[in-house]
Amino acid sequence: MKLPVYLYGHPVLRKISQDVTPQYEGLKQLVADMFACMYESEGVGLAAPQIGRNDKIVVIDADPVSDSFPECAGRKFTLINPEIEILDGEKISRAEGCLSLPGLSENVPRVEHIMLRWVDENFQPHEEEISGFLARIVQHECDHLEGKLYIDHISPIRKQLIRGKLSNIMHGKIRCDYPVKYAPRR
Ligand code: NI
Repeated sequence: MKLPVYLYGHPVLRKISQDVTPQYEGLKQLVADMFACMYESEGVGLAAPQIGRNDKIVVIDADPVSDSFPECAGRKFTLINPEIEILDGEKISRAEGCLSLPGLSENVPRVEHIMLRWVDENFQPHEEEISGFLARIVQHECDHLEGKLYIDHISPIRKQLIRGKLSNIMHGKIRCDYPVKYAPRR
């Protein structure tokens, strides 16, 4: 099934996601649909709230940015119930975008070294130390599961400067190359 990306302003993006259990119906199909949605919209990561589900599911394929960030080469993940432990608190700012915020990109401070623990779609546990831009992608996607967006990490001044663009996304006054679902009218 073709999934639309829920855009900024939709309340589903602000809710905390629930743990996924082995009884979760249609998990493998959903993961496949999420990968298809991510590839169609040319993203490197997608979290379940972005397709309207508050469940702890993330898909990542970081390979498309491996020219700039070699640590991303060939790195593809299905993260169920991911948990992040920060290994080094030093933050570095780099540009980020989000499929739920089309046309926007901002510098976001994040740590560069994390320990990631998760289960895959077969509920096999994994643990891996992750660094660099790959750690950034993982943090960005896991933020979605906590109802957070990257714009929550930028300065109030920057947020003020992009207020008009955010309002346009929220009110459906944008065009997008991939299928989207706009925030409900209030
Ligand atoms: Ni995002």
